[in-house]
Amino acid sequence: MTLRADVHHPVPRDFIWGTSTAAFQIEGAAREDGRGMSVWDTFCAAGKVANRDTGDVACDHYHRYPEDIALMRELGIAAYRFSVAWPRILPHGRGAANEPGLAFYDRLIDAVLEAGIEPWLCLYHWDLPQALADRGGWLVRDSAGWFADYATVVARRYGDRVKRWVTINEPSVFTLFGYGLGDSAPGVSGPAALRRATHHVNLAHGAAVDVVRAHVAGASIGCVHSRQQCIPATESEADARAAALFGAHWNDAFPDPQILGSYPALIAEDMEPYVAPGDMARICRPVDFFGLNHYSPNFCQAAPWSPLGYGFGPAPAGTPETPIGWPIVPDAFRGVLVEASNKYRLPVYVTENGMGGHDAPDAAGAVHDPERVAYLDAYIGAMRAAIAEGADIRGYFVWSLVDNFEWGAGYASRFGIVHIDYQTLKRTPKTSFGWFADLIGATKG
Ligand code: FCB
Repeated sequence: MTLRADVHHPVPRDFIWGTSTAAFQIEGAAREDGRGMSVWDTFCAAGKVANRDTGDVACDHYHRYPEDIALMRELGIAAYRFSVAWPRILPHGRGAANEPGLAFYDRLIDAVLEAGIEPWLCLYHWDLPQALADRGGWLVRDSAGWFADYATVVARRYGDRVKRWVTINEPSVFTLFGYGLGDSAPGVSGPAALRRATHHVNLAHGAAVDVVRAHVAGASIGCVHSRQQCIPATESEADARAAALFGAHWNDAFPDPQILGSYPALIAEDMEPYVAPGDMARICRPVDFFGLNHYSPNFCQAAPWSPLGYGFGPAPAGTPETPIGWPIVPDAFRGVLVEASNKYRLPVYVTENGMGGHDAPDAAGAVHDPERVAYLDAYIGAMRAAIAEGADIRGYFVWSLVDNFEWGAGYASRFGIVHIDYQTLKRTPKTSFGWFADLIGATKG
């Protein structure tokens, strides 16, 4: 397979190639070794996910992690970003830690290090303990303290071996969908809930930065933000306003207070009732990098039927789409990278990018995914163009190592560069796996 787009724009020396996953999406073993329930277990049990899929088994990574790490080693990645399941560590969200849960991540981290791969630990990838949701979850201010206590347990336990720390994955996405639009766990909706959750998650981030800084010598800490242009679907005033509001929540409501110290102007007044004296200083703590996830631009429209008054609109006719219908616009990726690098003045790591499809083995058992290879080639090319324009980008993590539980879409959307047969749990590297391994090899030399 030829490598396009790369030769003109070399990546910097020490550029980090990696892959990302998340606990709920791959681990399974949902009722094993004392793990508590999370809001996603509850959401699945209520039948709210496509095909009534659940995270009970997922990729069974909890037991098969050695096989997955062997794949990472074969791929040649320098770093692996994963998340810790809060309810595995604190089954009730607070209180006594669960030793078997802690021991699982000891084994995982040690095996990742043993493979010569740097672990990037994300404290929170959306699996809030159900016990805390029962106490109000992110809607109550206490949540920031609960999160800080959880972060303390994790930082103390793994800080000797883990130096790369992510506080929260895509705070804007899980608050918008879980607390604003209501179609993700825990299924709360409305503008007031969105604002409350937004502010408390920001407080939780700031508290966790302090905790990790205090307990982990030499830690490099950041938050992972989803960043994708919010473009009005039509030229109407209403769609322009919808896109601006959607964009303020999606792109800026977290990094602006966390890094620049204030909420974006468009929503600052709405946020005021939730902001106590001193809060902005609690949120805006020094961080070391900007984690950036990007998939495709959002086309937005005014949507009177939506709890927030806005929602997704159609992409312009003729826009190429992935097999799961996400617009393919590589230049939008270049745009957000340059913009984020200029605006926040932090080293940027692309902590997620990838393509969802419906890949299946052929008669010989091979899994060919030429669309994913083309997508990754074009998007990595766009990233290299951003670097050539001066964006400070230090690494790129593919989403995802393996097919996994894709939230509301369940197992129907496959994002892996390794195929999972959910009946047998067999792993089969796809064409894109070999392509990515070649790319890593070529840029190392
Ligand atoms: C991101 C999530 C990740 C995965 C990808 C496809 O929003 O962070 O868990 O679901 O989308």
